[in-house]
Amino acid sequence: MSRKVLLGNASEVPQGGLKAFDAEGTSVLVARIGDRYCAVQNRCPHLGLPMTTGKLEGNAVVCPWHGSRFDMCTGQNLDWVRGVLGLTLPGWSRRIIALGKQPEGVRAYAVTEEEGKLYIELP
Ligand code: FES
Repeated sequence: MSRKVLLGNASEVPQGGLKAFDAEGTSVLVARIGDRYCAVQNRCPHLGLPMTTGKLEGNAVVCPWHGSRFDMCTGQNLDWVRGVLGLTLPGWSRRIIALGKQPEGVRAYAVTEEEGKLYIELP
């Protein structure tokens, strides 16, 4: 059974940017996309690193470590291990950096806003 968990104030999420919140021990990354909020688990499935300092490109977060991209609203993987620290690398070296890991999405959470506060449903 899922439960509704408070993340924080909606005003903390910058337009065109990302904000990490702690939801009862789970780090959650939130973006404001147009007039709605989207959230994913703040843990890149490539190496399990946080994406707090990643960039928002359209509806996608770009992992700051190796450039994988994930849809902020669905968690779908859009691009897997593009390079290192912002530098795009050729395909053969991308496969090495991937360390044999196959593309994987991140968990997405439905976000609700009530009176300026953001909530998600945790399982
Ligand atoms: S840790 Fe995110 S792409 Fe490597």
